[in-house]
Amino acid sequence: MILISDQKDLTNFLNEKPFKSTKLTLVPTMGNLHEGHLKLVEQAGSVSNFVCVSIFVNPLQFGPEEDFSSYPRTLSEDLSKLEKTNCSLVFAPKVDDMTFGIKQQKADPFLSSIMCGKTRHNHFDGVVTIVNRLFELFQPKITFFGEKDYQQLMIIKEFVERKKLKIAVEGVATERELSGLAKSSRNSYLSGEEKKKAALIHKTLINLKQLLLDFNGIDSVIQQAKESLEKNDFNVEYLEARDRYTLKESSDPNNIILLCAATLNKVRLIDNLKL
Ligand code: PAJ
Repeated sequence: MILISDQKDLTNFLNEKPFKSTKLTLVPTMGNLHEGHLKLVEQAGSVSNFVCVSIFVNPLQFGPEEDFSSYPRTLSEDLSKLEKTNCSLVFAPKVDDMTFGIKQQKADPFLSSIMCGKTRHNHFDGVVTIVNRLFELFQPKITFFGEKDYQQLMIIKEFVERKKLKIAVEGVATERELSGLAKSSRNSYLSGEEKKKAALIHKTLINLKQLLLDFNGIDSVIQQAKESLEKNDFNVEYLEARDRYTLKESSDPNNIILLCAATLNKVRLIDNLKL
């Protein structure tokens, strides 16, 4: 496994002959890798013999009040984890190298204004700006994103389509703790007790799914589910049912995805479940 920490070195390396013809796959991450990230790497490895992983805590996608400076940075542990996978190349650039002179990109206005976009202004513009740069550098045939960040996945798919990039964007199912809590780097901010409680988001989505499948009125069951999370100390930012392909509001049970963002003791957690 090769570690590269500079854009120029990466371009020089990838321009060498043997890599030009490989089926390169890319897994963009912000590091602090857990089994969710490693599942993406595993899936990339199942279709490609040249898996690249980027590790970059992207300042462009954090708001001024968010956790950019405290976001866990664990490069050496991440590298040991990746050594045990079929990752061939890790790209871990410095902030200045990556952001200096970068071409700003815009996420789709509708997809980036709903749900997480309501409170995280410019977050998705920051995501597509950095992901676009990674696409330019790596020119992957396939890239892998987690369904845990479903809104992000839809935004990347739209971006690739709009820019007519020849990249297949694969969504990978959410990896969870035994409790059902979606694995996330931010779970490390939670205490043991809080982690147990945080699993309530997934349990609530499962209950909600069942209630909706039993043909209950959508608005009232969503309201009840919100109240039950709030009784358990969550601050629910949104809990919504949307069409899983367009993210427009929907009550058609065939295509619904339930999506939730809630904070527990100031730690912001997101999750989703398809009906
Ligand atoms: P990060 O939060 O590190 O996540 C990297 C990738 O791992 C994303 O595609 C995310 O959806 C996926 N992922 C995270 N937790 C997962 C889980 N429990 N199961 C499956 N996949 C999971 O998302 C980002 O970084 C950044 O926004 C990035 C795309 C790298 C751009 O900076």
